[in-house]
Amino acid sequence: MTKVPVAVLGATGNVGQRFVSLLQDHPTFEIAALCSSERKVGGRLADHWRLDDVTLAPDVGSRELLPLDPKAIVRAGAVAAFSALPADVAGDLEAKAAEAGIRVFSNASSHRMDPDVPILVPEVNPDHMALVERQPTFKGGGFLTTNPNCSITGLALALKPLADVFDVRVVYVATYQALSGAGYPGVPSLDITANVLPFIEGEEDKMRREAKKILGTWRTGIVESPIDVWANCVRVAVREGHLEAVSIPLQEDVDPADVAKALASFRGEPQRRKLPTAPREPVLVRTERNRPQPLLDATAGEPARARGMAATVGRIRVEGRVLRFFVLSHNTIRGGAGGSVLNAELAHGRGYLG
Ligand SMILES: NC(=O)c1ccc[n+]([C@@H]2O[C@H](COP(=O)([O-])OP(=O)(O)OC[C@H]3O[C@@H](n4cnc5c(N)ncnc54)[C@H](OP(=O)(O)O)[C@@H]3O)[C@@H](O)[C@H]2O)c1
Repeated sequence: MTKVPVAVLGATGNVGQRFVSLLQDHPTFEIAALCSSERKVGGRLADHWRLDDVTLAPDVGSRELLPLDPKAIVRAGAVAAFSALPADVAGDLEAKAAEAGIRVFSNASSHRMDPDVPILVPEVNPDHMALVERQPTFKGGGFLTTNPNCSITGLALALKPLADVFDVRVVYVATYQALSGAGYPGVPSLDITANVLPFIEGEEDKMRREAKKILGTWRTGIVESPIDVWANCVRVAVREGHLEAVSIPLQEDVDPADVAKALASFRGEPQRRKLPTAPREPVLVRTERNRPQPLLDATAGEPARARGMAATVGRIRVEGRVLRFFVLSHNTIRGGAGGSVLNAELAHGRGYLG
């Protein structure tokens, strides 16, 4: 099979490097272009590599970093692009790339709430992919898709199977978010050492708005979910993995064993299609009293290509018709690059990549 040539936009950043690690030996995609800020154009990715858990392939590390220019991306032969750019840069550039016929899979928030742009979590809302056909650039081959804010992805994976079975109306969540979620170099060390920060700009609103769209029902368009997610977001001194404490008032008596069963048996289109980056079990349920933990569970997911793609749920309790549990997911893999790669695999499986 001929591989689909792709570009990584913002290849030197936290999420960009995760993209490269997932794409450098991908069965469906091959890297045609690595693009960076003007500061690093002309240099090599190997000189900026920071992922201590991944070996950069020499032929990828030695590639010249190209400018963030749709014409340069098309010239390099890429038909799709994975964007790991800050929102203020991504908005205009991603739109221009789609106009140039490129299929864009973005991590940035710039286009998430555009009415004709889906926020995809392939196990949760694969039907929303059809929204790209309404984009004016679609006729020319280009379109835009996004994945959610890293704090909502793991929660959405847990909420979907629960909302399918139980009457979920409101969700209260307190987050413990990793430092890598703030990009590189991120939060100043003097602010976070021996400390927690009870404020992350825009995060609580994003969780509420994005959850309504992601969990929305596909009819002739997206009908927003009635579920309200009320979040308190906190930055903690953890490298990778967002942990979240979730409380859900229920309308009926519920057995915690049924909750565990609904979560553990959840499968979606990526599992049915056996997409390369799909975890065999998208939600893992742990029964130990002190799990999940970022250090032990952030990279959960099988097979090896899906490491960091499973959300882990633990400490499931029901008291007084309130369901409580913790959920953990890897912010730069499932909540970032891995989520976008899975979106692209879904698009490929559904015939959107030509
Ligand atoms: N980190 C996460 O957990 C996570 C999860 C989901 C979504 N996201 C979103 O993904 C995007 C990337 O996040 P990140 O954590 O990877 O950030 P990051 O580590 O700060 O990387 C940002 C990338 O964009 C480049 N860049 C920065 N300013 C630029 C400019 N003015 N012009 C052109 N390029 C510029 C950087 O280049 P240099 O290397 O030259 O600075 C770098 O390659 C953001 O929109 C973020 O909100 C992040």
